[in-house]
Parts: sequence; C-alpha cells; structure tokens
Amino acid sequence: MPPPPGGRDHGGAERGRNWRGGGLDDVSHRILVLDGNADHAKTLTAWLASEGRQVIPATSPAQAVSEIETCLPDLVVLGSCPRGNGSRPFFEQLSALQADRNVPVLLLAREGRESDVTEGVFYPDDVLLGPLSMPQVTARVRSLLKTKALADRLRLAYFHLDELSGFTETYADQIVADWRPEDLAARMASVLLSPREGTPQRPSFIWGSAVIRGRRHGIACYRTNGDWHSLVTRCPSGELEKLLRPYAIAPGRFICNAPLPGRLKAVLGVSPELSLPNFAAIFREDDALLAAGYPWEVTIHDLPLLQASLRQWSVFRRIWREARKTEEANFQAMEALALAAEFHDSTTAGHVRRLNTYARNLSRLLGQSSRFVRWISHCAQLHDVGKLTLPGSLLNKRGPLDPGEWERVRAHTVNGARLLGHSPQLAMAARIARHHHENFDGTGYPDGLAAERIPLEARIVKLADVYDALRTERPYKKGYSHQEALEVLAKGDGRVLPVHFDPSVLEAFLSSHRDFEAVFDGDRTGAAS
Ligand SMILES: [Fe+2]
Ligand SMILES: [Fe+2]
Repeated sequence: MPPPPGGRDHGGAERGRNWRGGGLDDVSHRILVLDGNADHAKTLTAWLASEGRQVIPATSPAQAVSEIETCLPDLVVLGSCPRGNGSRPFFEQLSALQADRNVPVLLLAREGRESDVTEGVFYPDDVLLGPLSMPQVTARVRSLLKTKALADRLRLAYFHLDELSGFTETYADQIVADWRPEDLAARMASVLLSPREGTPQRPSFIWGSAVIRGRRHGIACYRTNGDWHSLVTRCPSGELEKLLRPYAIAPGRFICNAPLPGRLKAVLGVSPELSLPNFAAIFREDDALLAAGYPWEVTIHDLPLLQASLRQWSVFRRIWREARKTEEANFQAMEALALAAEFHDSTTAGHVRRLNTYARNLSRLLGQSSRFVRWISHCAQLHDVGKLTLPGSLLNKRGPLDPGEWERVRAHTVNGARLLGHSPQLAMAARIARHHHENFDGTGYPDGLAAERIPLEARIVKLADVYDALRTERPYKKGYSHQEALEVLAKGDGRVLPVHFDPSVLEAFLSSHRDFEAVFDGDRTGAAS
C-alpha cells in the first residue's frame, strides 16, 4: 500500500512536513460507495481502498441507507445516480448528511449519463464525467475530504470560540480568590473536550500548566470510555520543553502525529496504557497547554484554538493572582484591626485567634463553601472590634455594671459594624460584629433577630465565642473545664441556654467538641473574652 499523501509526521527529522504539505489527509475517513453495478462498485472500492481508507460498498439505495446509519461516512461516492422506488429515502438521507454533517457527495457520471447531473434529483458537491480513471477519482476524493476536514475544523473552532466566550461571560465575575487554578483549568478543559451533539469530535486529553516557584504545576483532564478524569501533575521547569523539542514547528509551538511518547506521559503523570495519538502543544510565557488524542491529523490549523484557550487561561490566572493579593491585603488589615482591639481590651489575648479557628472548623462541618470557610476564619476575630469605642475603664471594670454601663457595652455590636463600614470585603465581618450576641430564640441583642434571620456567620461565631468565654478565666470568675463548658452549651446553666444557639451549629459543636478542647488547651497563652 502506498504511503498516504502528505505523510504522517512522527517528529524528529520528519517534523513540519505534514503541516507544510497540508496534513489534512486522514486515512481513517470512511467512504460509502453506491453503484448499482456490482463490478463498478468493486472497482471503485478497490481504487479508494488502495490509499488505506475504509470503503463501504453498497449496490442499492436501501443498502446504502442502512450502511449510512451504522457507519456515518465522511464522503459518499455515487457510481451512478440511483432511480426508482426506494431511492427517495436515500436522497433525503444524503441531503441531511450534506446539510448537518458537511458530508460531501461525489457523483461519477459515466459516458452518456450526464443527464444524471442535470435532472435535479439532488445536488452533488462535485461531479466527474467519464471515462474515469483511478488517479482522477482518488485525487478528487482526496480533495473533497481535505475540504471537508478544513470546514470541520473551522466549524469546531467557531464552536470552541463561542463556548470560550460563554465561559468568560459566565465565570469572569467568579474568577475571584476562591477559585483555585485547578478548578479553572478543569472547567476550561471541559469546554475544550466535551463532545456536543452535532459538533465534530474533539481531542480526548488536555493538560494545562504554569510554572510556580521553579516547578511546572499542571492539571490533566481526559476521558476514557465516557468517564472523566483529572489529575494534578508536577515536574521540574524546563523538563517538558526539553521533551517536546523534537516536535517544534516554531518557538513555543509543537505538533506530532504519533502517540504521545512514554517519557512525556510520565512527566504528565499519565498511565503508559492510555492511548493518546496525535498531539499539539503551545507555550506562552510560563503557561503551557497540550492537547492529545485528536481524532484527526494535527496541523497548524489546530494551534490557533489552543493559543486562544491558553491566552484566556493566562488572563484568568492573572486576575485570580491579583484577587488573591487583594484578599491577602484585606486579611492583613483585618488582623491588624483585631490586634488593635486586643491591645485595647487587654483580657482578650489569644481569644480572637482561637475564634478564627473554631469558626473555620464549624463552617467546614456545616458544609460551607471554601470561600465562606476562608473568610469566616479571618472575620471571626473582628467580632468585638466595637470594643475599641469603649473606654478601658469600662472594659476592665471590676464589679457589676450599672444599667447605663450595660447599655454602652451592648453597643459594641452596633459600633463594631459601623466601624467596619459598608465595604463588600468587610461585609461578613460587619455582620458578625453586629449580630454575634443575637440569640436563636430572638432574645439577644442588638436587633432581637431570631433563627435564620441571624446571619449564619454570626450564629457560628456566637457559639464559638460563648465556649471560649466559658473556658476563660476572668478576674471575677474561674475558667470552666472543657467538660463543664460542654455541659453548659448542651444543657444550659440559666444564663446560657441551648435555645440561644442554632441547632445545626450546636450539633456540629457537639460532634466535634474535642477539637474545641484541643484548640483551647493548645493556646493557653490567652486569657478572657
Ligand atoms: Fe461581643
Ligand atoms: Fe469574644
């Protein structure tokens, strides 16, 4: 069998040859040949199969209809134009193939049968008039398949670009600090890899990566037998570039139409058994994107889409990095404010730090999002920031407070929220500051809110605050043991009642009270609330 025109690039010395020559010949294409004359059908099949393509012969429209349903051809060759009963469903199917799947139809009109072309029975994409020869037919078939392949890729590229635009529109607002780059990569990979009804096939494997502190961190997404997998990979920076070098067609651009080599698979963390033929890779600064398992021969025409995806990935990562930096700055400012409040009220050392930990643990147990968990573990420490507005003499007063003093102390909730202002970044902290003394049964202050009207973050911090206050020794009371504090929270002591707490938060505490004990006992440097 002669080698397929255009050759198949296997890297190394052969690199680049396939794409310069067009590289769109794919011998895996299936061709349906219909000719009512069995001898003609046989000859045509032999001609077309000589280039290694899969040829499905049919000698009647009815047979062709059933073959089309099972084999979905990439090209239909009509050795003669079928007529009579039974040809209508065939022509309808042919028209649908042309319209929906971009399948070209080549009509071979032998001598004296030119009328086949003009009768308007259907509209072939191309016509060859006899006498026919093998080079003539095979060249035209190659040309039609090449055109189809280009049109398919263009169509796929439009689909991808549309999907990527949709992706940007949907998720740009959410590319904030709680998005991990791995999540982002997985979502983008699903855009690039997920087959959609009516669109051409796609690669089966995609791997995006970035260099972070001298190592290349990547995530691979792929599907096998319809199942999705993803895995995180790490490799030394430069390793991948070295292994890809033989397949370079331009700086930062790589193409190979052979299976992904074993050493590359090892670097990507992929099982050696996974079949990944045909791959392309593209680098942009520290970011890289590699796609493999293309169901067609990869050419330079496949690179712009990878380039667009990589560029978008880079932009999202930059936004994510900036969002993270802003968030970190916010958290540092919060900590500074909490420390200032702690200095002001000298009895709270350690308390605010522990509260962050309790709140984080409870939020996790309650199944809150990673963003909620991260933010509450920085916002809890600001619950008593309003005490900055109270004089030290009142905060540290020994002996009972008179009603007026109580009123001023209670105002630390409202004042704390006012101090934190209306910035969206401090909204959670402000809600905690205002509502951490509300009771679930509506008997708390400052607003007397009940049940779910109390923000969840405040319900969580309330329980954590009471536990820590019970455990803490104050000038006017001894610190409770963990067991005693547990009893008070579970059964009440007259002042503290279980109905003050959100039942789900209380349940989470009861199921993890040993963690609370460990946090308090591990941080005995603190004093009181
Ligand atoms: Fe408070
Ligand atoms: Fe407190």
